[in-house]
Amino acid sequence: MENIHMHAVDIIAKKRDGGSLTAEEITFFVHQFTQGNIPDYQAAAWLMAIYIRGMNRQEIVWLTQAMVSSGEIIDLSDAVEFAVDKHSSGGVGDKTSLVIVPLVAACGVPVAKMSGRGLGHTGGTLDKLESISGYCVELSREEFKRLARENGVVLAGQSANLAPADKALYALRDVTATVACIPLIASSIMSKKIAAGADAIVLDVKVGKGAFMATVEDARALAQTMVNIGVDVGKQMVALISDMNQPLGNAAGLALEVKEAIDTLRNDGPADFREHCLVAASHMLRLAGKGSPSETRALAERTLADGSALAKFRQMVAAQGGDVSQVDDPTKLPTAAFQEAVHAPRRGYVAGLDALAVGNAVLDLGGGRLKKSDAVDHAVGVITHCRVGDAVSEETVLFTLHGNDPGKIAAARQRLSSAVTFSETSVPPLPLFYDTLEGKPV
Ligand code: URA
Repeated sequence: MENIHMHAVDIIAKKRDGGSLTAEEITFFVHQFTQGNIPDYQAAAWLMAIYIRGMNRQEIVWLTQAMVSSGEIIDLSDAVEFAVDKHSSGGVGDKTSLVIVPLVAACGVPVAKMSGRGLGHTGGTLDKLESISGYCVELSREEFKRLARENGVVLAGQSANLAPADKALYALRDVTATVACIPLIASSIMSKKIAAGADAIVLDVKVGKGAFMATVEDARALAQTMVNIGVDVGKQMVALISDMNQPLGNAAGLALEVKEAIDTLRNDGPADFREHCLVAASHMLRLAGKGSPSETRALAERTLADGSALAKFRQMVAAQGGDVSQVDDPTKLPTAAFQEAVHAPRRGYVAGLDALAVGNAVLDLGGGRLKKSDAVDHAVGVITHCRVGDAVSEETVLFTLHGNDPGKIAAARQRLSSAVTFSETSVPPLPLFYDTLEGKPV
């Protein structure tokens, strides 16, 4: 179907001039680029043309499908009856997969999820899981499917050959100022979810200072674009628009987030984080046919409350070689040498709590990476003890810094000194969610 007589330069020119590309043109460009037959400079020009001119709904679906078919497509049908997946666009303190995956699995809906590593101020699920000694994120395809079939739960790294076109295009976008483009972001995220074999997908699109999308309007547009892609390729879709102006839950930092996830599975976690997990899990259960919104919510609450979700997490850790004694006693997880409290500088109400600054403070402490090859310190991070709207005084501890290096702790402290803004008068709390979009294939 690929016409070898096409020329990349003509496809670039067509998009530059605002034309709509055909499926053949998009597939040609993506596959030839992935195979090394179109050089980076032409792909960069094409990406910039898309960035400026945009793409229509069909073009976006074709781009997604071309990226899916550039590599391996995982068929989970011999492992699970119905594959339900989730994706979060990333944020500070977003450890939701650690709770939602075992929770949904414990409700009787198998979850076989591939996650990523963190880059920049957002942490990655794989890095968090590796805080648990021995936890193996690199599984063979056979092992991944066997765990899905036998245990109904598996949480591991993405296959290297999943949507390789996206990997190559993303690397170019990163250095050509073409990341922040809805058609490119939507197709990038959806290509990986579709290639990973999902039948239904719950997307969590974050909005705010710590997220890709700064406004609810932009987040809604991205969410709608991804819902449309899913529907057009036959998937059931839900997209939540959720807040990332302040961190989710209290903990930001790898082992600290694992501990908070375990606390939540033990019914002892922060209320906002627990609620976020219950909402997302209920949608996944509903898409998997487990009942109405109120029925799936009740099922998720019961399964969290009775300890089955924690037991599922423990089973997952054991099956992937992790040390379950750290699940049973999270004080055995990596712990930083120093802890320092940061007090409120004044009395008042918390008016703003900059999630990005908290994420960057975790980086200052060594808990994330600026480049893919950087090592991470699992023990370090920031616990945020307040939320927007809270009344505070000079006695109030706003943050606790967990660090291994006094110099880095000083840098994080400095960073956080301007992360909180205050008001004399009361401030309403931030919502957890702003909107929910849905789509079903017709
Ligand atoms: N996450 C992705 O996977 N791709 C993007 O383009 C942006 C965020």
